Amino acid sequence: MTTTDFEDAYSHFLSRYPDYSTTESLDRLRSDEYSRIEDLGHTYLDYTGGSLYADSQLQKHTDFLASNVLGNPHSNNPTSQQMTHYVEQARNTVLEYFNAPENEYIAVFTPNASGALKLVGEAFPFQAESSFLLTYDNHNSVNGIREFARSHGAQVAYIPVTMPDLRIDTAEMTTALTSCNAKVPNLLAYPAQSNFSGVQHSMEWIDRAHEAGFDVLLDAAAFVPTNRLDLSKVKPDFVAISFYKMFGYPTGIGCLIAKKSALKQLRRPWFAGGTIALASVQAMEHHLADNEAGFEDGTVNYLNIPAVEIGLNHLREISIDTIHDRVQYLTDWTLKELVKLRHSNGNPLVRIYGPVETIDRGATIAFNLYDPNGTMIDFRRAEELANKENISLRTGCFCNPGVNEIAEGLTSEEMQAGFSGGKRMDYPYFLSMLEHQQGKSAGAIRVSMGLVSNFKDLYKFITFIRSFLDRSSKKIGRVKFDIRTCRRLRDGS
Ligand SMILES: Cc1ncc(COP(=O)(O)O)c(C=O)c1O
Repeated sequence: MTTTDFEDAYSHFLSRYPDYSTTESLDRLRSDEYSRIEDLGHTYLDYTGGSLYADSQLQKHTDFLASNVLGNPHSNNPTSQQMTHYVEQARNTVLEYFNAPENEYIAVFTPNASGALKLVGEAFPFQAESSFLLTYDNHNSVNGIREFARSHGAQVAYIPVTMPDLRIDTAEMTTALTSCNAKVPNLLAYPAQSNFSGVQHSMEWIDRAHEAGFDVLLDAAAFVPTNRLDLSKVKPDFVAISFYKMFGYPTGIGCLIAKKSALKQLRRPWFAGGTIALASVQAMEHHLADNEAGFEDGTVNYLNIPAVEIGLNHLREISIDTIHDRVQYLTDWTLKELVKLRHSNGNPLVRIYGPVETIDRGATIAFNLYDPNGTMIDFRRAEELANKENISLRTGCFCNPGVNEIAEGLTSEEMQAGFSGGKRMDYPYFLSMLEHQQGKSAGAIRVSMGLVSNFKDLYKFITFIRSFLDRSSKKIGRVKFDIRTCRRLRDGS
């Protein structure tokens, strides 16, 4: 990319999105607090994977640790009391940040969003006539709850998403909600924002599900990093989040924000240190502690919990609305640029999964690339080439297989083939089988924007994608690395 090309493109971008300048504070923030991105030559476009932290977050946390003597909060000595005070302060900050009325909601610290989802799944009082409804568009950590539901004999039903926008099928959802038995516990789980397509599913489903006799588990992990979630306005029973996705540091802490009344109905399948009011070996009995204590197994990640408060204050200072606005402009520009890209023979280079407009969608874009003959370019090869340019994007199914199955038109029979014949098939083998037998793919490329994304990141990305124009898939070459499940392993070659 030449400087002049970039400058021309930037001034064109600014004239197209004049309000982008209202988010200029983020440019200053990036150069003051995230200068290592430029210094190390990175183009970071995997914010849905994990956000990035500011220098000051680390500094504040280190200063905090260096100026305190902190003990395990389960004791009752001075250092323990001090730590308990900071953990509770962070808990209150979480509730305040999401505007969650204190008399209504509780924050339970968990290792990550998956930990929060599992707490609900394993303890929800599913019974034979219960319904567990979930959408095709869900992270595997939500899909996994179906195993708990099934083990209690509950009905598990997936609500499809419709093509091409990959939004919840309204008619199917309405029918499913109204045909359940409202006298038994029922649960609806869906993402506020898809980690695959960026679609933001309507929050109106929360009230409608409540009216139909469902509790609602809102997976907000991909939504809250760039959007405001106001729990005084929308009232899901359970919300799952991971803090590293919001502000990069610390990893290893998530949260279940739960309505007190909903938490009361949960039946934990076990107890652990820290979760009981009373337990006896001889009596073989236990009473679970009240509220959040009954759900925080063992010792919480106490030294890092104050860094959650630092991170939330960091977001408050920046303003989530400023972040939201900036990523919306960048997403709109990127979508339009991608759609425009055509080979000389007129065939499109890019197929975007999900909406190409920014209405009710966030800053995550999933797509595949096609050569001039319409042959799909292996997304793993695209990632390999992006790596060479120091562009961090993500490929695969992003742990969200259902929406990908719909987007690629994979049938139930094709997916069953991955599980039949007694052979334990892995993801790379399954991909090659699909490619050879049906010419289809079970994965895509994903870019996602976050708190310090800027125009240069997206310009670099579009320049990279342009480099695929008019090149045959043969010329682009085959991938040299492999991915298994959602984790990528070097094959040693
Ligand atoms: C929508 C969504 N839900 C849940 C998760 C799981 O988060 P974690 O891996 O932090 O548990 C993710 C992670 O990417 C996600 O995007």
